[in-house]
Amino acid sequence: MDNVSRRGFLRAGGVVAAASTLALPTAPASAAGSNGRLRIGFIGPGGRGYGAHVKSLCKLNTDGAKIDLVAAADVYEVHRDRAVDTIKKETGFDAKGYVDYRDMLAKEKLDAVCIGTPDHWHAKQTIDSMNAGCHVYCEKPMTHTVEEALEVVAAWKKTGKCMQVGVQSTSLPCWNQVRGLLQDGKLGKVMMFQTEYFRNSAMGQWRYYKLDEKMTPKTINWDLWLGTKEGLSPARPFDREVYAQWRRFWDFGSGMYTDLFVHRTTVMLKATGLRFPGRVVGAGGIYLEYDGRDVPDVATVVADFPEGVQGLVSSTMCNQESRIQQLIRGHYGSFVFGNGEDFDSFEFIPERSQVTKSKLNNETIKVEKLKDSTYTHFANWISAMEADKPELCNNTPDLGAAAIAVVNLGAKSYRFGKVFHFDREKMAVADADSSWSKQWEQRSHARGKPNQIPGWKGGDYGSLLDEPDYMSLAGPWVNGQPPKGRDAAGG
Ligand SMILES: NC(=O)c1ccc[n+]([C@@H]2O[C@H](COP(=O)([O-])OP(=O)(O)OC[C@H]3O[C@@H](n4cnc5c(N)ncnc54)[C@H](O)[C@@H]3O)[C@@H](O)[C@H]2O)c1
Repeated sequence: MDNVSRRGFLRAGGVVAAASTLALPTAPASAAGSNGRLRIGFIGPGGRGYGAHVKSLCKLNTDGAKIDLVAAADVYEVHRDRAVDTIKKETGFDAKGYVDYRDMLAKEKLDAVCIGTPDHWHAKQTIDSMNAGCHVYCEKPMTHTVEEALEVVAAWKKTGKCMQVGVQSTSLPCWNQVRGLLQDGKLGKVMMFQTEYFRNSAMGQWRYYKLDEKMTPKTINWDLWLGTKEGLSPARPFDREVYAQWRRFWDFGSGMYTDLFVHRTTVMLKATGLRFPGRVVGAGGIYLEYDGRDVPDVATVVADFPEGVQGLVSSTMCNQESRIQQLIRGHYGSFVFGNGEDFDSFEFIPERSQVTKSKLNNETIKVEKLKDSTYTHFANWISAMEADKPELCNNTPDLGAAAIAVVNLGAKSYRFGKVFHFDREKMAVADADSSWSKQWEQRSHARGKPNQIPGWKGGDYGSLLDEPDYMSLAGPWVNGQPPKGRDAAGG
């Protein structure tokens, strides 16, 4: 390990306590935790699970992280063998291959697993792994349904394990910086966020995942892929298209709502401090991509939060060169970000001085860029595990579940023609009714103050309305007489 990469891991982990335990990797460990090293196994080292999970952890191992990569479970023989071979080549570990992850959990005395399977397996494998005593890194979207997301949070709280949800952009320093500025009241009352994830493809979104002749019922355990026995998806015949391009079908994912929107939504929640929405509606349709898919090629989610903030996520999979801006709006100004996550600054755009009552200036606010957010996200997880502090993970399951509630209820709203409420006290989803609009009308009629984002320190800055003198003339006339001012009129 060279000093540059060791420093890279130290910096990426960001936890001093963990950093002090770093040492050069020694020979592969033979027993669980015998030398203070973490025994890690992979579940579903396919596209992401191989390219990001196996590769990043091999790199972290050679950069000095105290991790042993000991096993890989995949229902597809080709992916399983590739993971085992790469681990051997890059780290020297003789990782063992498994078809069923439950055998791996039973036999390998693992400290942690990385889950990179299709979405319909995430919750079950996460909960099984935590119950088997493992810390978990699980790909986004954290789960396939809101109910599963709440079960994962319950298991996380019960077991006290470190769980990192794989939205790697939550490890970008930018979003904590934005949250600090918002909480300090830089924008005044926070009103809206909007974000996007546009794409375009000549062959139809996600059809670029190649079908391969090697994919057969002999090389793939189809029952274990479907999870029908486990109640995870209905039975259907083996089909290479479904295996390779499962994102196009509701049984396994929820199209762009969850595959893509969850990235940007999670960081918007992180930046604003918002969590579960109060009311969610989704829209969209399949307007061009008639290729046998279930999921829309145009989609929008509108989520309203009890803090009095609205979130908009909107995109198409058939146009990407003219995206909507990614931003957060407040009463006194906006933060305008670049598209995606690869930017080194963002803009503060103030509102007019007639509104803000003093001149605010445009600003360019610098942010720290990362070379590899996935590597940093894994390093953060390792640091949290070493410190045994689940709260140190940059994307904990409670944030993951809140993001799922936004994007998944958006998809459900589109599919089932409903608007949903989320009740934070009962932690439950319900069909929407008029109570959402009624509560705001009552607030307005009572001339109350606005709700603020969590952690708000801005006082009344940017949060109160001016009352023009002539409003004293407002109010109902009684017996042909003008009102004696609002207080007298009881308004
Ligand atoms: N964070 C990111 O930027 C990012 C990028 C791509 C994908 N992902 C996520 O990663 C996950 C996987 O996506 P992908 O494109 O790599 O899919 P994939 O189909 O390429 O890989 C999934 C792998 O899981 C295996 N598998 C399926 N069921 C299994 C089971 N029960 N036990 C063990 N292995 C099983 C498959 O054989 C395959 O090798 C998805 O949830 C996706 O949303 C995240």
